[in-house]
Amino acid sequence: MPSAPAVTINPARRVSGRLEVPGDKSIAHRYALIAALADGPSRLTNFAPGADCHSTLSCLAALGVPIEEDLASRSVSLVGRGFHHWRSPAGPLDAGNSGTTMRMMTGLLAAQPFTVTLIGDESLSQRPMRRVMEPLTRMGGRIEATDGHAPLTIHGGPLHGIAFAPDVPSAQVKSAVLLAGLHADGSTTVTEPAQTRDHTERALVTFGYRIDVTGLTTTVQGGQRGMARQVSIPGDFSSAAFWLVAAAALPGSRIEIADVGLNPTRTGLLDVLRRFGARVTVTETHAEAGEPRGTIVVEADRHGSVQIAPDEVPGLIDELPAIAALAAHGGEVVVHGARELRVKESDRIATLVTGFRALGIDADEYPDGFAIRGGGPPSGGAAHARGDHRMAMAFAIAALAGSAPSRVEGSDAVIISYPGFWETLERIVA
Ligand code: S3P
Repeated sequence: MPSAPAVTINPARRVSGRLEVPGDKSIAHRYALIAALADGPSRLTNFAPGADCHSTLSCLAALGVPIEEDLASRSVSLVGRGFHHWRSPAGPLDAGNSGTTMRMMTGLLAAQPFTVTLIGDESLSQRPMRRVMEPLTRMGGRIEATDGHAPLTIHGGPLHGIAFAPDVPSAQVKSAVLLAGLHADGSTTVTEPAQTRDHTERALVTFGYRIDVTGLTTTVQGGQRGMARQVSIPGDFSSAAFWLVAAAALPGSRIEIADVGLNPTRTGLLDVLRRFGARVTVTETHAEAGEPRGTIVVEADRHGSVQIAPDEVPGLIDELPAIAALAAHGGEVVVHGARELRVKESDRIATLVTGFRALGIDADEYPDGFAIRGGGPPSGGAAHARGDHRMAMAFAIAALAGSAPSRVEGSDAVIISYPGFWETLERIVA
């Protein structure tokens, strides 16, 4: 078996610098999908460069949506001709590693008058899909899977609206049902058990749809048509998270990140960093397409101890791997109520605890979380990302604490969300 590409991480005293991060992955998926439903040409600037959003674009291209990518300006132009002009693709649609692509596409394809199969890589083929199949089936959709997993074969047809209250807080599930609801008879309502990221709701308004949001309940009416738009995508807070954590974990550090998304359903990490003892300054500069953005500065003061409570988890679900790395340098992080981490790109609780121990860091595993306790500088070692982009980046930040160089194996996983991660890391360490 070929060995996984690996990166060596040298111990670092501190990190410093001013930077921008690539466009937001969650927002880019939504703008591409929603622009592909609209009438006319849309332009999406600062489009997320990772492989996940590329999976969404290639699925749309296979459905007959004209798409042009300009890599130099990181913009994507696509011409929507309305939902009814999507064409039956020549073969299966490949969502790659992207759960967002697979779940949101399933919502849209359930209402199309053709049959299509959605496939994914090994990791995505193990992730739970019943959570979208069940509500879409209640709406009249016909979806086949093997034991609730991809490949999914969707026999599209007419849908009707439902009132749906998922058990799991999931923006992907909420979005799949709302997108299906746009093409269903009557009204579709989703009531979430807790607030999850609301980019779909904001994007729908931007592209001219009428929706009603009251507390945790969102309603859309079927039969609406969207309008094409020119929109720019803010920097991805979840990519910024790794640098913000590094700055909070290494005393004497200062990191400034400009033009990053500040949607309050995503920024729970900032409060965690403050509780840990970092100085955090946030300057909101403006909002575009309903998404606030601005500059974040983090400076390290001291190592503290933070407990993450279950009700905080939806607001920082993708930042939990980074948060674990916070304590690798000293202090303590204890997380509960995060069982969902077990069904992400890898079982993130198991991968994280195994990897941190391999780096010489004290880590405990719980069914619904983990605890990381930093002592003196850990010995260093070799941690394997298991094909999971956020694991590779979390291990890199943790490994900066080592008393000796460490290795992150499977380092190429970062291309899913942050292709330039390793170059930026090299630039900011001292
Ligand atoms: C995402 C929602 C979250 C998150 C994922 C992206 C999205 O997943 O973990 O990385 O773009 O909607 P769930 O909706 O499954 O919690």
